[in-house]
Amino acid sequence: MNHDKILILDFGSQVTQLIARRVREAHVYCEVHPCDVSSEWVRAYAADGRLKGIILSGSHASVYEVDDRAPDAVFELGVPVLGICYGMQTMAQQLGGKVQGSNVREFGYAEVRARGHTALLKDIADFHTPEGHGMLKVWMSHGDKVVELPPGFKLMASTDACPIAGMADETRRFYGVQFHPEVTHTVQGRAILERFVLDICGATPDWIMRDHIEEAVQAIRAQVGDEEVLLGLSGGVDSSVAAALIHRAIGEQLTCVFVDHGLLRLNEADMVMDMFAGKLHAKVIRVDASDLFLRELAGVTDPEAKRKIIGRLFVDVFKAEAEKLKAARPGSKGIQWLAQGTIYPDVIESGGAKSKKAVTIKSHHNVGGLPEQLGLKLLEPLRDLFKDEVRELGVALGLPHDMVYRHPFPGPGLGVRILGEVKKEYADLLRRADAIFIEELRSTIEPHSGKPWYDLVSQAFAVFLPVKSVGVMGDGRTYDYVVALRAVQTSDFMTADWAELPYSLLKRVSSRIINEVRGINRVTYDVSSKPPATIEWE
Ligand code: XMP
Repeated sequence: MNHDKILILDFGSQVTQLIARRVREAHVYCEVHPCDVSSEWVRAYAADGRLKGIILSGSHASVYEVDDRAPDAVFELGVPVLGICYGMQTMAQQLGGKVQGSNVREFGYAEVRARGHTALLKDIADFHTPEGHGMLKVWMSHGDKVVELPPGFKLMASTDACPIAGMADETRRFYGVQFHPEVTHTVQGRAILERFVLDICGATPDWIMRDHIEEAVQAIRAQVGDEEVLLGLSGGVDSSVAAALIHRAIGEQLTCVFVDHGLLRLNEADMVMDMFAGKLHAKVIRVDASDLFLRELAGVTDPEAKRKIIGRLFVDVFKAEAEKLKAARPGSKGIQWLAQGTIYPDVIESGGAKSKKAVTIKSHHNVGGLPEQLGLKLLEPLRDLFKDEVRELGVALGLPHDMVYRHPFPGPGLGVRILGEVKKEYADLLRRADAIFIEELRSTIEPHSGKPWYDLVSQAFAVFLPVKSVGVMGDGRTYDYVVALRAVQTSDFMTADWAELPYSLLKRVSSRIINEVRGINRVTYDVSSKPPATIEWE
């Protein structure tokens, strides 16, 4: 790769990844690394001449609580540096200014006055005061603040509560902002970050997915040579895009294995086969393992036990197929590589800044360790990309928009959407109810945005409740099952609000499900947010 790059040092803020996404949206390549890398590491990172600037992220901590500092090399390389929140405070402290601790947090919306006509903020404003001062509507979240500028710096922005809300040393091209330009609540945040990476750092905006295909194809060919690759296709976005990309690169050298555990959505398995085997002419082995999964799940009601069984069987079935394929055929070296749809957030989180603490609430479907067990080398062609970039790449590769922009679907599938014991009868009812819900979300347009409701919610699905309730249909009494509809809006899936879907839409969905899916006579809507509820019911 030959792109200019921006280094983002992560001090442990929840929103560091947003900085990277905003930089990538400006079509500039960037990487996130933990703040505790050494100065030698930073110098080596810059040695190829591609490093054009550095951004220091915020932190959840105070400069007095933790001793995280930017490596000295950051300020010695001669490249522009932007410090955000904690990043600005550590910059101030390391360069000779002063930071004052405080127990009072300034949190939320603020109006910041831009000062000094610095290159970073010049001509960027949301409105002007009667005196003609440019004002920015921003998001603040800090306790400590800079109270004394380091030598060489001038004041760049201020609020009443925070007199030094921005600082600049334009000779060295060092900038600090106390507010968060990476969050969407800061209206001009995107413009400010673009100004920094494009104008101040002078990075070339050449990170474009359409063009990345060729680069990625070349990289895969160089890595794999004439060897063969195995990929587990799940129908999810990441594995689908990885498959399409690898297929573009090496065609027949790729074999996909698609394990159907019988807990997929309506017609999902056929759609995956139709796309990859039918349209792309990729080699896809479909393993129908639904009987095995249902047999092993019989009588199991505990959610964690169900997840473990599904995860284990999935790996077993996949491994068995892989072993069969690995056994070299005459004239072939056999499979040497296992491809996985790992994406950049997975890479950042596993490399993780020391300040990050992951809390496991549900054991997620984990296929880690598989390449070692199978004795295969690992191919991860999406490991530099964020989810939005994976989607863009998928569309550029010719995958259907609906497949690429589908809501996330958990590895255990309907197994965690059928409460308690999983039975085929339940899965069949749920599949049909779910399909009706999704169909209506896709076909109902929200008038203000002009977009279908499907695109306005982050995830929507039906849940099967194995309880029976009494109903009446025609002249007869019914005694049938219940489904709950769930639709949430979220930006990160860590917290989520239940979606305020229009009553008319809910009414149509409910009446269609009850009329069309015999066996279900009651539909409810889940009005719980996360936390305290989770998105899935199990
Ligand atoms: P929860 O239910 O934890 O879900 O609020 C957050 C997001 O994660 C998805 N999810 C899973 N994905 N394997 C997956 O691949 C799993 O076991 C799993 N459990 C939850 C869920 O659909 C939501 O998007």
